[in-house]
Amino acid sequence: MAFELRHLKYFVMVAEEKNFTRAAERLFIAQPPLSRQIKQLEDELGAELFERGSRPLALTETGKFFYAHAQQLLSQAAEIKAMTKRVSQIHRTLSIGYVASTLYGKLPKIIRLYRHEYNSVDLQLHEMTTVEQIKALKEGVIDVGFGRIKHEDQNVHRIVLRDERLIVALPIGHPLAENSDSLDLKSLIHDKLIVFPKAPRPSFADQVLSAFHDRALTPKKIIEVRELQIAIGLVAAGEGIAIVPNSLIGMKRDDIIYKDLNERHAYSPIIMSVRAMDQSEEIRNLLDLIYRIYDEEQIPYVRGTL
Ligand code: BEZ
Repeated sequence: MAFELRHLKYFVMVAEEKNFTRAAERLFIAQPPLSRQIKQLEDELGAELFERGSRPLALTETGKFFYAHAQQLLSQAAEIKAMTKRVSQIHRTLSIGYVASTLYGKLPKIIRLYRHEYNSVDLQLHEMTTVEQIKALKEGVIDVGFGRIKHEDQNVHRIVLRDERLIVALPIGHPLAENSDSLDLKSLIHDKLIVFPKAPRPSFADQVLSAFHDRALTPKKIIEVRELQIAIGLVAAGEGIAIVPNSLIGMKRDDIIYKDLNERHAYSPIIMSVRAMDQSEEIRNLLDLIYRIYDEEQIPYVRGTL
């Protein structure tokens, strides 16, 4: 007999309740079959999972190891269930999570065109961080996420759509705004650096800070703020400077000057995340449309697949 998910569920309940009677009650089964199932599991594993005679029931060292993995497997099974439910709905809806900075890039055009070409699909938009997007994908709240952080999760497939250049936002009248055409990071360390978002981490803030650290540079002072709009507002107020994605150039303000950053690695990726193995038509059409826009606008990219 190989053990099954049911055995894991029973074992985790007993481990958490530290008592067979209470665990059996919560599982709505009688105690003797529960004890039998745990015994079967121990036989199958060839190891004792609970200390014999302990009150309350305690896990052996092997039991603790197995518990950590059993919990992980059960939560993965729950995620698969939620994700499959979502995929199975004959959904002509597409729910998209995005980080605010992508709104200054191609996102508005993508949404406009998608609505125009696939008007029977109900598009829903949710502003959320990359970390929130991963959770929302697994819970079936969104179907696609657009973010900037490379978050590892075996249930989520990510495609780097393109690498976007980073630029510097300076307040009007700043000495660096007047001189050279492009700036390097070294020339920025004497200013207060405004980074965003402050939480959750890792975030775009860490991409900017790593760019300095990778060159063994330390900005004079770092101000962490909640979001892009606040960073831009504070730059306009002369509180400091900010490093932002190139698409911010489109957000013209007469109190801010944008300067190119002359650094080889000064890029921030735009990443599309979907549930692993979700190849629904709505998502395929969305990805094709994005690449079509890149082709039309001659935006460099490396094509990825679902
Ligand atoms: C882009 O600017 O390339 C982009 C932004 C949001 C979603 C997809 C692409």
